[in-house]
Amino acid sequence: MKMLAVPAIVLALAGCGQKAEPPVSKTSSDAIAERLEPVGKVCVQGEECKGMEVAVAAGGGGAKTPDEIIAKHCNACHSTGLLGAPKIGDTAAWKERADHQGGLDGILAKAITGVNAMPPKGTCADCSDADLKGAIEKMSGLK
Ligand code: HEC
Repeated sequence: MKMLAVPAIVLALAGCGQKAEPPVSKTSSDAIAERLEPVGKVCVQGEECKGMEVAVAAGGGGAKTPDEIIAKHCNACHSTGLLGAPKIGDTAAWKERADHQGGLDGILAKAITGVNAMPPKGTCADCSDADLKGAIEKMSGLK
């Protein structure tokens, strides 16, 4: 049974969309975007499909917006203040931390390395420093 299942999946994937393979000259992210396109269209027709947009953005390797990063990685703790995390929108709490650590860049540095229950990069392993900074600015309201 197991032996048969694998080729069946491969065939299903190969048959999907019936599109010719994109030319080699295309970048891999273009190729991925093209393969994801039908999914995006289904999504638009169904309306309200936020999760899908994030998936498409992540799959395409494109830029992440602060909102996407927060929704995917930071919300879990920072929306409720779990484990003592400063809450999203509680600018005073963030400002107090920033004031003690040399400003936004100080707390950014802590977010990169992790501190206590705050995991390194807030679990967003593929976030750049600038990505994290954008998310922190948005969550804290600080600039
Ligand atoms: C697993 C829970 C968790 C997740 C997920 C998480 N954080 Fe945190 N974060 C914390 C906690 C707890 C603290 C407070 C740590 C302390 O000071 O003891 C914190 C503190 C911080 C601070 C302040 C650090 C300082 O120096 O005071 C920043 C900045 C921060 N988080 C950014 C982020 C960002 C950006 C994300 C998402 C990319 C994120 N966090 C995701 C739990 C989390």
